[in-house]
Amino acid sequence: MNIFNNHRTKEQLVYTDRKDFSFVSDSDVYLDSACQSLRPQPVLDAMFSYFQKYNACGGRVKYEWGKQVDEAVEKARVSILKRLGKSPKEYGVAFTLNTTYGLNLILNQLPGRIYKQIVTSEIEHNSVFLPTMMLVKKLGIPRVVLKREQDGSLNYTKENVAQAVIVVNATSNIDGRTLRNAKVLASDTHKSGGILIVDGAQSLVHDTSLLREVDFDALCFSGHKTYGPSLGVVVIKKTLLELLELSFVGGGMVEKLETDSFSIPIIDPVSKLEPGLQDFAGIIGLSSALDWLDMYKPEGLSVVEHTQRLAQMTFDGLSSIEGLHLLNSEPSSTISFYSENVDAHRLAIFLSQQHIMTRSGYFCCHYYLQNVKKYPPLLRVSLGLHNTESDIRKFLEVTQKIISNIK
Ligand SMILES: Cc1ncc(COP(=O)(O)O)c(C=O)c1O
Repeated sequence: MNIFNNHRTKEQLVYTDRKDFSFVSDSDVYLDSACQSLRPQPVLDAMFSYFQKYNACGGRVKYEWGKQVDEAVEKARVSILKRLGKSPKEYGVAFTLNTTYGLNLILNQLPGRIYKQIVTSEIEHNSVFLPTMMLVKKLGIPRVVLKREQDGSLNYTKENVAQAVIVVNATSNIDGRTLRNAKVLASDTHKSGGILIVDGAQSLVHDTSLLREVDFDALCFSGHKTYGPSLGVVVIKKTLLELLELSFVGGGMVEKLETDSFSIPIIDPVSKLEPGLQDFAGIIGLSSALDWLDMYKPEGLSVVEHTQRLAQMTFDGLSSIEGLHLLNSEPSSTISFYSENVDAHRLAIFLSQQHIMTRSGYFCCHYYLQNVKKYPPLLRVSLGLHNTESDIRKFLEVTQKIISNIK
């Protein structure tokens, strides 16, 4: 069913300035960047350039193309650490498939007998919630699910973090709340012999100042939520890397091989997390995305200013629509809500008929949203750097119209 009969002119829907996203059609409003951000032209160019000009594998070959790949991969590792304000002496960077895979890779290889509990929080994505459940079976230790405050802080006691493996997100994919007490959490955890593993899936794009001051043991994020290609990244302390008990092994990680044993290169401990050939175009694309993020000025503003402006506009607009319940207590680039009048999945379909792409459901946070809060399915809008004020205006006007037409 299309409840809109009054089509507007193209001028009314025109976007002001998409710059590096000029390939996006003027009629499309993509509001699902928390799932995958759109890839800007320079990232696409960097990947094409790899395929067309130096399509070799890294870490293995002596010819010139391979050397170029090695340099590019090294540059990617350096820029990730720089963005997080971490030293290459203390941390290694490994490339994987996505955040989910990175978290599983670390958790599945943790040694037994060091930790006495696993701690997570109720608002976690299933990529944290499920693997921490599996870890209970593997390590034979209990799991504790803690609450997060509305401001994002983890609500914990000293006992909760003693000798604990803590796995929590730095930024929620429900409402963008951040782990405000991350710094003190890391310090309390370390004092009592635990480790802090951060799900940074939503954290690398916007303000990284929080992560820069947190002494995390490992952090996982996804290139596809960071304007790069589909790729995962693990940033991990070398001390933790040494403790991991290998379970995924193969090409590219052997220094010496006997009939029944092998050793991995001491100088390259991250190869422990990188079995087999890597996605070199992906790594190069991600590196280019990080460079681009530092340079990009949407509508002349910094990335943070631009996002705050659109987030405020979205938050204010949605707050003024009667019958909508926002989960956010403050503006964020990720805003979730439900309507008293229209089911979120139907709303998403109506919006889609107007070329507005949003998410409906529980966004892989079933435990908190469905089980604890018992919310109906929700609608989520998540903003990206391709979005403009006219995108938000269109989304708000159309949402308002759908809600009032259905009342
Ligand atoms: C907070 C959070 N953690 C983890 C994930 C999982 O990311 P991926 O699907 O890239 O593994 C997501 C994905 O939306 C997320 O938002």
